[in-house]
Amino acid sequence: MKTTTLTLRKLKGQRPIVAATAYDAITARYAAAAGVDLILVGDSVGNTLLGFDSTIPVTLDMMVHHTAAVARAKPEALLVADVPFVEAHFDFKQVLESCRRLMQEAGAEAVKIEGGAGLAGKIARIVAAGVPVMGHIGLQPQQVRNLGRYRKFGTKPAEAEQLLADALALERAGVFAIVAELIEPILARTIAETLKVPLIGIGAGVDCDGQILVCTDLLGMAPEAMPGFAHAFAAVGDEMKKGFAAYVMAVRARKFPRQPPPPP
Ligand code: KIV
Repeated sequence: MKTTTLTLRKLKGQRPIVAATAYDAITARYAAAAGVDLILVGDSVGNTLLGFDSTIPVTLDMMVHHTAAVARAKPEALLVADVPFVEAHFDFKQVLESCRRLMQEAGAEAVKIEGGAGLAGKIARIVAAGVPVMGHIGLQPQQVRNLGRYRKFGTKPAEAEQLLADALALERAGVFAIVAELIEPILARTIAETLKVPLIGIGAGVDCDGQILVCTDLLGMAPEAMPGFAHAFAAVGDEMKKGFAAYVMAVRARKFPRQPPPPP
């Protein structure tokens, strides 16, 4: 059955929501078949698949391209696309146009916008226009040039208070869920308990209403680049290395295509 924003809201308090990123059709198919509730086409495509060192070079055109690929998999999971660097800070008409492209051209069913109370007014208008929005508080990777580094949020009282205020402002603006990235776990629990909408954590402890991970991390595709809070549930990178090496050896030894080796 197709997962909607309503499905996710109803899951709060019932069972943890499972979310993961995907950037292409085949990965989306695997994720949805495994029962992932929400697929995020994250702007993390920049530093996972595209070889950039942050999400900042990711453009709206890139997001449309990757979101459309995931949409072609027709996943049962809710398909959410990131609004990339700076786009959400343009005037309302331009932000709405970005959301329109992600939904009408690419097939996203909702968008995610990084930012807190400062963007709540604009997010309320976007939601009113018919665009479901997921918030994103705590570490906002699009702010990395201001921050200087990726760090944990909410360890100091003033910052903790601001994060709770951000979450409540986003909820009032009408978001259907909020991603909490690298938020101190006890604070994340308080925020989750305070909100009516689900708080989906990444590096924010076990007491959020769900978890989201980047697919290349959870699949173990690039263990050397994996953040400390993530976990590899498979070793796809090792399997890829083995597969390519076996192919190279078979071709060089003229064993393929004459005598293809047995499948692993
Ligand atoms: O871009 C992304 O993958 C994200 C997740 C880390 C939540 O925003």
